[in-house]
Amino acid sequence: MIIVQAIDALREELKSWRQAGETIAFVPTMGNLHAGHIALVKRAQALGSKVVVSIFVNPTQFDRQEDLAAYPRTLTDDCAKLQAAGADLIFTPTPALMYPSGGLATKVEVPGVSELLEGASRPGHFTGVSTVVCKLFHMVQPDVAVFGEKDFQQLMLIRQMVRDLDMDIHIEGLPTVREADGLAMSSRNGYLTTVERKLAPSFHLILREVVDALHKGRQDYASLQIEAAKSLESRGFRPDYVEIRRAVDLLPAQVEDTDLVVLGSAWLGKARLIDNIPLTLK
Ligand code: PAJ
Repeated sequence: MIIVQAIDALREELKSWRQAGETIAFVPTMGNLHAGHIALVKRAQALGSKVVVSIFVNPTQFDRQEDLAAYPRTLTDDCAKLQAAGADLIFTPTPALMYPSGGLATKVEVPGVSELLEGASRPGHFTGVSTVVCKLFHMVQPDVAVFGEKDFQQLMLIRQMVRDLDMDIHIEGLPTVREADGLAMSSRNGYLTTVERKLAPSFHLILREVVDALHKGRQDYASLQIEAAKSLESRGFRPDYVEIRRAVDLLPAQVEDTDLVVLGSAWLGKARLIDNIPLTLK
């Protein structure tokens, strides 16, 4: 496994692989890797002959400075996990390499999807994501890139960007990997205290209850959303939103829609958790 920090060195290595006819599958991450990230790497191995993983805690997508400062950086452990998983190359650029003059004049904006839900709660977040992923795509020039459905809206944003800008990259989405108790794996779960960690799975259970109610035919979406948010509050969460949306564009679901996703975001102590469950109504 090769570890490179410089953009030139990355390009050099990838050029020789491409000349040798290798196909490149790419997994962008911010590190602090867990089994969810490793599942993406394994999927990437099935889709390309070489797997590139980037580890970069991207400052421009953090809407709160304290979150950026506190974000766990565990490069040595991450490299060991990627080595064990069989990744071929790890790209670990520094903020100075990615943003030489502190910031960028050029930004990639995906209006619409970036303004809803997470975008409304975290101003500027998705511009940071689409811009850095666009840069990474230009550096790596992968055939395939793998993203998690855990960040449902992010996956939709990337797909839109790739379509709009005619990037020749197949975007593969992978279902959310969960702990045994249902909690979606996340680097931010590490912020939970022992007591909060015991409470955390009820977030997923409450979203699951909404899904069950939809399957049973409930159509009063607004009251279902309010009930779920109240339920979260009563268990010590501070919900940002619980929403029943159309899976195709994340607009509010209407009773005639069949492909839906229930999305939620809630604070528990210092951790802001997000989760979602896609569903199809018959
Ligand atoms: P990060 O949060 O490190 O996530 C990297 C990838 O892992 C994303 O595609 C995310 O959806 C996926 N992932 C995280 N938790 C997962 C889980 N429990 N199950 C399945 N997949 C999971 O997302 C980012 O980094 C950044 O925004 C990035 C795309 C790297 C741009 O900076």
